[in-house]
Amino acid sequence: MSRLSPTGRKALLTLHLVTSLGWLGADLGLLALGVAGLRGADPEVVYPAAGLLVTYLFAPLSVLVWLVGLASALLTPWGLLRWRWVLVKFVIVTAMLGLVLLLLTPTVRRLGELGPDLTARDRLDLVVPPAVSTTLLVVTTVLSTYKPWGRQRGVRRAELESSQTAGRPG
Ligand code: HEM
Repeated sequence: MSRLSPTGRKALLTLHLVTSLGWLGADLGLLALGVAGLRGADPEVVYPAAGLLVTYLFAPLSVLVWLVGLASALLTPWGLLRWRWVLVKFVIVTAMLGLVLLLLTPTVRRLGELGPDLTARDRLDLVVPPAVSTTLLVVTTVLSTYKPWGRQRGVRRAELESSQTAGRPG
């Protein structure tokens, strides 16, 4: 059962879309900087810029996306555990949040400090992780729009039938 008015739900969905797709955009920005660095752009410009982007936009957005995504599930009839597409999104974003905060942010800040001493191997650290996370976010977006796989096991038949009649929770 939804705990939000229709207006509240639309506001939450708008916030969810702006934050999560903004996160994807910030990720693409990191990837663009990483590719530029690999192709020989000035490391004293590229990596400090990536450090700022990750510190002030990408990492804070990761936390916000996780919180707003969780609220979008818990405060709407979708729920967190009822639908596989919601649960899979939550697992992907939770794993990404951990990796961004514990691995990517310190690594990119370190790259910003190394400047001209960066090796080709170091430069890949700003290409591979953003390429993987961008792919995961595109997969997440596709899961959100196609909503595959139906419900988790154990959902009551009556609940299932009523949601099939309605088309989708809401
Ligand atoms: C903690 C992680 C997340 C959870 C639990 C979650 C959950 C949800 C839920 C429950 C809805 C339906 C909201 C409603 O109908 O009012 C939704 C919609 C949506 N989500 Fe997420 N989400 C998460 C992260 C993301 C991310 C990272 C993206 C994209 C990069 C994303 C993209 C979308 C899109 C495009 C919709 C709109 C789908 C539609 O209305 O047809 N979500 N999400």
